[in-house]
Amino acid sequence: MSLPHPELNHDGPPGEPRRGFLTQILAAGIGLLVGAVPAVSGLAFFLDPLLRTKKGSGGDGFLKMPVALDALEINGEPQLVKVIMDKVDAWNTYLQQPVGAVFLRRTDKDKIVAFNSRCPHLGCAVDYKSAEKHYYCPCHTSTFALDGTQQNKIPPRDLDSLDVEIRNGTEVWLKFQNFRATTPDKIPVAST
Ligand code: FES
Repeated sequence: MSLPHPELNHDGPPGEPRRGFLTQILAAGIGLLVGAVPAVSGLAFFLDPLLRTKKGSGGDGFLKMPVALDALEINGEPQLVKVIMDKVDAWNTYLQQPVGAVFLRRTDKDKIVAFNSRCPHLGCAVDYKSAEKHYYCPCHTSTFALDGTQQNKIPPRDLDSLDVEIRNGTEVWLKFQNFRATTPDKIPVAST
């Protein structure tokens, strides 16, 4: 009768099978973790344009305008301000692109009205005439009153007003939006 050689004894000491099982579980967990890191990184890469907050944006659709409240005189002339923001398509971000322009006019100590400078008729750029105190579209000689009301029948609606907020006392924040031309109703279009 021969005794088993110690190095050939696969039974091992008591508790050895349990340690082996725990080692396998641990190895599987680490494997999952290692596999998940590149997967999450890849997902973040693909979602990056969708998740990125646009520069100058409060994350709520409002943009900080490059003009302070104090720079606008109460009941003064409207100021034409370019709107610059990051444009995002499916997978690319184009930094700081001009996307339009707005007229800002301060009507009270803490109130500003804003109009998109795009004419609601066919989208021409509207101007402001100081002498006449009205907005003027050169394409079809149409005019709009200081409050944006259309003054002839060519445009289908008034100038498109936009939401403005005064934040932190002096900052002017605007919710920029383009609207479909030629329609009597303000229908938002995706412009950015
Ligand atoms: S585009 Fe402004 S009136 Fe026609």
